[in-house]
Amino acid sequence: MIEDLWYKNAIIYSLNLETYMDFNGDGVGDFEGLARRLDYLHALGVDTIWLAPFQPTPNRDNGYDIKDYFGVAPRYGSSGDFVEFMHRANKMGFKVIFDLVVNHTSDEHPWFQQSRSDKHSPQRDWYVWSKEKPANIHDGVVFPGVQKSTWTYDKKAKAYYFHRFYHFQPDLNMDNEDVRTEVRRIMGYWLQLGIAGFRIDALPFMIESKTPESKYEKHFEYLQDMRRFMQWRRGDAVFLGEANVLPKDTEKYFADGDGVHLMFNFYVNQHMFYTLATADIAPLITALNQTKSLPPTAQWAQFLRNHDELDLGRLTDEQRQKVFDKFGPDKNMQLYGRGIRRRLASMLGNHQQFKLAYSLMFSLPGTPVIYYGDEIGMGEDLSLEERAPVRTPMQWSDDYQAGFSTAKKLVLPVIEDGAYGYQHVNVEAQRRDPDSLLNWITALIRLRKECPEIGWGEWEIIDVHNNAVLCICYFWKGNSLLILHNFDEKQYEIQLKLANKKSGQLIDLHKNVTSNADENGVYKIIVEAYYYRWFRVGDLTHLLHRGKQ
Ligand code: NOJ
Repeated sequence: MIEDLWYKNAIIYSLNLETYMDFNGDGVGDFEGLARRLDYLHALGVDTIWLAPFQPTPNRDNGYDIKDYFGVAPRYGSSGDFVEFMHRANKMGFKVIFDLVVNHTSDEHPWFQQSRSDKHSPQRDWYVWSKEKPANIHDGVVFPGVQKSTWTYDKKAKAYYFHRFYHFQPDLNMDNEDVRTEVRRIMGYWLQLGIAGFRIDALPFMIESKTPESKYEKHFEYLQDMRRFMQWRRGDAVFLGEANVLPKDTEKYFADGDGVHLMFNFYVNQHMFYTLATADIAPLITALNQTKSLPPTAQWAQFLRNHDELDLGRLTDEQRQKVFDKFGPDKNMQLYGRGIRRRLASMLGNHQQFKLAYSLMFSLPGTPVIYYGDEIGMGEDLSLEERAPVRTPMQWSDDYQAGFSTAKKLVLPVIEDGAYGYQHVNVEAQRRDPDSLLNWITALIRLRKECPEIGWGEWEIIDVHNNAVLCICYFWKGNSLLILHNFDEKQYEIQLKLANKKSGQLIDLHKNVTSNADENGVYKIIVEAYYYRWFRVGDLTHLLHRGKQ
């Protein structure tokens, strides 16, 4: 039965163990700390936890440089602690997914060490080598301004190796069958330990041939093989793809239901920020419509912020500039020439706009993904390097070190200055305040769970003849939802001529009010400045595929 697809209506919460909760007081978060915060996550209402990489690593890229795929970094605990955590999490009904980072390894991984030291070793071809200096070594860098090249000379190997990301992250050669076998072993191992799926890191690069001669061809069949394998081992496990690609290319990643189950909607994400910055909904509508068609078993993952920069590379230069001007005007707030290294709450600046953004993200077709700390409106620390400003420790209370740790020196400092300091923004205070963001988001999560139409239904954007008010309508099993967001600083009255005999009353899902259509079938709805209205209504399927009212 297709409704078994749990990920269609999941609420995903992403965190890095390092900065979540330190139990043993060494200044670094750990599995025991997270296990003790499961009650908090349960009360918040999330049901899926996405963990950043936690395997042994030199940690030069936030753990995305792995040197042993089958272990747990000692600073997070032991394999035993991992299993204990999984047991508790699963008992409480959580699904746990984590990053599958196999586009590259750390340069300290024994495979790479073997590969560079012995050209006759089986591992030699597990990486991508060139005896001659490739002509294009400065092309295709992912972190411009920080990363210099995509090929680096290795003295030991007397050859250049390819690295899509930093020089300490040599790319694996996916064209080598033994590498693909090893990837299956990694997946099999963690699936056996109860993992419910993987966020596939750097997916477009992972499936790519990596030499100029190969013309960087993408092998979607590698992804499909991985999917087949995973599904044999665990029928309900999922892939969540990290692929910031154009709408026209997404189809291949979903592969008619044989590729990823979920994929981050980077395209809509960037246009959401454009709309939040300008109150112009037109480009967002285009982005939504361009990413509309999906195989029935597939799903978008919608998100606002994550642990990286807010990447605006898919906007036009003019659009990006408008978002920069509004949300990241200082050079120090920008990164890699395309993004903003800030948190959502500080970018949007006030609670009403923050709620507008979250309500919007939760109302879009797909499964919402929350970035830890957003639920209390944490800010960033711009004195930290590159993407670190948005990775500071979770602010649990106004105790020493925000209640995150008892250690003097932390893996990253807690935010203690200004309006976003832990003295003002923390979980404990917000739990007790009925008007806090935390309580508001908890209610939003509950509401989203009560609206399965969003995960399952068909949808249409309804034209309400107002360039600042987005109206989306869902249809599923004879029920409809009508959701409006006003991005303007002005209030509007929206008139919707939607009603027919079966549609009946509009029931406001936030407030205890209902409204009826007038004798001409017109609903009149007030949407205040930066506000949102969610309504359940009877059957509106007559609007389907019509678009306009
Ligand atoms: C994408 C991850 O989100 C990012 O944090 C990381 O630096 C790169 N992949 C490389 O693994």
